[in-house]
Amino acid sequence: MKRRRTEVSCLFRSSSVVSAAVVLSILFTLSLIVLINHLPISHLTSSKQSRNSIDNNSSTICPLISPLLVGWMDLSLLIPELMEGPDNFDNEMKSAGLKKGGTYRPKDCQSHSKVAIIVPYRNRSEHLTVFLRYIHPFLQRQQLDYTLFVVEQSDELLPFNRGMLFNVGFVEAQRHDTFDCFIFHDVDILPEDDRNVYSCPEVGKPRHMSFVIDIHDYKPVSLMFLFGGGVIAVSAVDFVRANGYSNVFWGLGLEDDDFYRRIRRLNMSVTRPSIPVDYLRYRTLYHDPSSVDVNQSKRQQVFDNGYLRFESDGLVNLKYRLSSDLQLKSLYTHVLVKL
Ligand SMILES: *[C@@H]1O[C@H](CO)[C@@H](O)[C@H](O)[C@H]1NC(C)=O
Ligand SMILES: *[C@@H]1O[C@H](CO)[C@@H](O)[C@H](O)[C@H]1NC(C)=O
Ligand SMILES: *[C@@H]1O[C@H](CO)[C@@H](O)[C@H](O)[C@H]1NC(C)=O
Ligand SMILES: *[C@@H]1O[C@H](CO)[C@@H](O)[C@H](O)[C@H]1NC(C)=O
Ligand SMILES: *[C@@H]1O[C@H](CO)[C@@H](O)[C@H](O)[C@H]1NC(C)=O
Repeated sequence: MKRRRTEVSCLFRSSSVVSAAVVLSILFTLSLIVLINHLPISHLTSSKQSRNSIDNNSSTICPLISPLLVGWMDLSLLIPELMEGPDNFDNEMKSAGLKKGGTYRPKDCQSHSKVAIIVPYRNRSEHLTVFLRYIHPFLQRQQLDYTLFVVEQSDELLPFNRGMLFNVGFVEAQRHDTFDCFIFHDVDILPEDDRNVYSCPEVGKPRHMSFVIDIHDYKPVSLMFLFGGGVIAVSAVDFVRANGYSNVFWGLGLEDDDFYRRIRRLNMSVTRPSIPVDYLRYRTLYHDPSSVDVNQSKRQQVFDNGYLRFESDGLVNLKYRLSSDLQLKSLYTHVLVKL
């Protein structure tokens, strides 16, 4: 509770950075804050119909199993290649049908799910490059209707706040368009097998996806010990019911476990894909573990009393300022946010 931010403290912090640009951006984003705060949460799950049910006359429903899947790929070979190129990847994706903002719909059929992929991000450009080059073809082979959002924390001094970036991604995505479900995805982890389909989970059944990971020798990790850490899929309805992630986990770790508790509290059953474990492999990209961190034992305390904040801390009290309008880049929609 004591770490909860108010608008006032946000303004004070940034006004200490004396710059005309900052002042302008405050004025600009204040109106956004007002908008967000007056947007009832129910609007975020939307009673609007999604595209799928509106204009499905023109084409048939996609098959349950995409004919374009290729199965397992050896990422130890592929990742070094992806770091190098291809140079013309943006154009390749454009001809494949990827629209500005990283939006794709299969040409020949109507996808089963309309998915927003939310990637929290700061200062890992080489990972983002590899991720984008890999994930777009992967999702397209699965014949998904999707948009990729990269939510970048623009402030450099605060620790990374993954949970809050997910919340911001959720709100901004639903303001931008209407999505049935969300896949919350770290930038440094890649699915090895496209039979691990990034479709929407059923309402009431959030799906934990990344639990067979190279760093654990591909031994399935128990739900109890690692809920999110990597990739989870949640329907829009469930995310709102859970009040999103907590906003108070600064630095890495435990925000996922807190989210797991939020889900469990509502008696939702957390599921795992019912496909062979071999299809569920993930590979992580190496990074220097010496990244910015905060007091571990303090975070443990925040986690231990997390149940006190399930209803007060999350989507309902989310406050942030966009550093600019959403940018529709060729491979993703860029949400640049100051927390
Ligand atoms: C779908 O097709 C029906 C019958 O041909 C037509 O009446 C309807 O207007 C079409 N809807 C759309 C959204 O195109
Ligand atoms: C779209 O497809 C769904 C499922 O097949 C069907 O129930 C609905 O009536 C269709 N809508 C239109 C406008 O054809
Ligand atoms: C971003 O990465 C660069 C190079 O790794 C590093 O020098 C810089 O301190 C990082 N900035 C932050 C905010 O972590
Ligand atoms: C969850 O299940 C327990 C035991 O059946 C029940 O007491 C509780 O009210 C349920 N909670 C919700 C939010 O449905
Ligand atoms: C970490 O947090 C705990 C609990 O708030 C506190 O007692 C301890 O002094 C902190 N350690 C450091 C190095 O700040």
